[in-house]
Amino acid sequence: MQECVCSFSEALGCIITSYRVRAVFRLTEGLRTFSHVTDDAYLKGMNRPVHQDMSAYPMESHTVWSALYERQREHLEGKASPLFLNSLDEMRHTLRKEGVPEVARMEAQLKETTGWTLKIVPGLIPEEAFFALLARQCFCTSVWVRRRDQFDYLEEPDMFHDTFGHIPPLMNQDFADFMQLFGEIGVEFTNSGNAEGLLGLARLYWYFIEFGFLRDAAGEPKLFGAGIMSSYGETQHAWSLREKLRPFDLEEVTATSYRTDTIQSTYFVLDSLDALKNDLRNWAGRAA
Ligand SMILES: [Fe+2]
Repeated sequence: MQECVCSFSEALGCIITSYRVRAVFRLTEGLRTFSHVTDDAYLKGMNRPVHQDMSAYPMESHTVWSALYERQREHLEGKASPLFLNSLDEMRHTLRKEGVPEVARMEAQLKETTGWTLKIVPGLIPEEAFFALLARQCFCTSVWVRRRDQFDYLEEPDMFHDTFGHIPPLMNQDFADFMQLFGEIGVEFTNSGNAEGLLGLARLYWYFIEFGFLRDAAGEPKLFGAGIMSSYGETQHAWSLREKLRPFDLEEVTATSYRTDTIQSTYFVLDSLDALKNDLRNWAGRAA
């Protein structure tokens, strides 16, 4: 892991820990949808670490982590995509429930499995940096853990969202490859100033990577997106709408606006990861 000099955690970082949806997204449709540019004063105010010092966590952080993990793992049983749950369980010795996990250990397992690495960031980072990291098979995570009084509601992603929500799918090579391509296209669109293309990527991130459903081997829609997986309230809410999902079509997803200031009501369900990478490549060609 390299020391991080930029400011943020996940690219399109939306963290929703209750179904009173509020996202970190400051962007609105038509603007730079997933930019989380923060100024120096904000960063200084955050005072968030860019290294992980395991000895610095108070016991309360470990206790909160364990409670979050155990409640959500149980809540996801039968509802979450097997792809996600199997990877989460496979990582039980690194992304563990007993206490705040070590980023270096999670990274070692991830790297051995799909070649991905992790980078510690203090908070949200600009989309340019986020895309560039994804293109290099690197995902960002914060290392601060919410307080107990923030158990069900956060205004920005913490380590539980960044790791529990986002890392398990990166153990799957198809998803990991898709994320790398997503980053490569983001870099390309950023360099070419393709605002429309970037907006499409933001919508894809929102509707799939954060709030997507994925069908299991039996064809049943299961929860998949990180914004759902890391949130008890969002899990309940999304699961209650599983009969009202829209079929995942990349053209439709990238053309569908989303709101960050109201309860999520639109969810798409992807049949399989198999064709997603090729579909994204073809869409990017048309959107270039
Ligand atoms: Fe996220």
